[in-house]
Amino acid sequence: MIKFDATKGLLKEEIGSYQEDVTRVHKMITEKSGKGNDFLGWQSWPLDFDKEEFARILALSKKLEGKGDTVLVCGIGGSYLGARAAVEMIQGLYPENKREIIFAGNTFSSTYMKQVLNYIKDKDVILNVISKSGTTTETALAFRILKEFMEEKYGKEECKTRIIATTDKARGTLKELADEEGYETFVIPDDIGGRYSVITPVGLVPMALMGVDIEKVMEGLVASYNDMQCDDLSKNTAYQYAVARRILQNQGYDVEMFVSYEPQLTMLGEWWKQLMGESEGKDGLGILPDSANFSTDLHSLGQFIQEGKKVLFETVLTVENPSLDVIIPMDEKNGDQLNYLAGKNLDWVNKMALEGTMAAHVETGNVPNIVIGIEDMKEYTFGYMCYWFFIATAATCYLLDINPFNQPGVEVYKKNMFKLLGKPGF
Ligand code: PA5
Repeated sequence: MIKFDATKGLLKEEIGSYQEDVTRVHKMITEKSGKGNDFLGWQSWPLDFDKEEFARILALSKKLEGKGDTVLVCGIGGSYLGARAAVEMIQGLYPENKREIIFAGNTFSSTYMKQVLNYIKDKDVILNVISKSGTTTETALAFRILKEFMEEKYGKEECKTRIIATTDKARGTLKELADEEGYETFVIPDDIGGRYSVITPVGLVPMALMGVDIEKVMEGLVASYNDMQCDDLSKNTAYQYAVARRILQNQGYDVEMFVSYEPQLTMLGEWWKQLMGESEGKDGLGILPDSANFSTDLHSLGQFIQEGKKVLFETVLTVENPSLDVIIPMDEKNGDQLNYLAGKNLDWVNKMALEGTMAAHVETGNVPNIVIGIEDMKEYTFGYMCYWFFIATAATCYLLDINPFNQPGVEVYKKNMFKLLGKPGF
């Protein structure tokens, strides 16, 4: 399902020479014995996810059919990026949807908040607040404001069907508040951390509300789980990717640019950045994850990649079949001199841009390129790819002896901010 090609990776070590390390790491993942193993719940989730709760998500989306033209998701980090990446990848940026999805709770920007409030004033809103801890300040503060908006617009009783909370099973202020107000709640499992949670109700509820076929997402997830049981480095492409990253960092590359050629994959790049960056960037180690969308960013970052300091390698996500395509029309006058492309598909042009760029970056620019290939941007592929990236992330961190599942560094800014805000106890 996922192709991996390191032939343009300019690797100075053989991927296969890491087999012993990978076998060790594979055990740490599949036997849930590695560092941070209390957060390895995602590993067996494709098999042991809560089927009753999954059915409840499907029932919710059915119940709300015909209600709500706007799904407002309130969350940040792992409680935001995955859902957005999924919906944009699967439906594109301007889908012919009955509903649109917008996001809040991921910033303190007052202008953004006020514009969201103005924007949804005359919309028919369904609000999904997502927070595992229930105490994340960005999300909690936005939810306080949105809850007031919803209650004024619809009244408390109607809010019971319009507000959905995804949070911890039993603990936390959001859980208490949701129970008190009578909102339907969905659970973020204890043993799955935020950036690995898109395959739980965190991602599945917004996806389902947007009409994404979440059964297909789970089918892809299960298929990926099955394929990832194999520790053979010549077969397991996720492990090949994990090892290639380590080899490239050994060669001195400290930045990885995740590149796609589809604007609807931009948020996938943001999701990937959190997954890699928060998992690996600790103990003074890790590769800085960066992302770009080509050919757009070739007109901004292209110069640096081609001729700037040799700090980065590119990981290019290719898509075999675009969701849609356009035939380039013939123009009698040919004033723009583009008739040499008439009759061709626009996706073909995109693919030629990819090939030409890769050759320029690798052969002329000496920038390593590794390629991850997916078939399409549909539900099954999304599910498959999520699990694939989780395995690759865990493995690449374990190869560095890093705990992929904690994020102690994130607390530092919060402490400083709480002190400045006058939060009791800080
Ligand atoms: O990956 C993580 O754990 C974080 O990005 C969290 O998802 C993020 O901080 C939001 O936390 P919470 O869901 O508790 O509001």
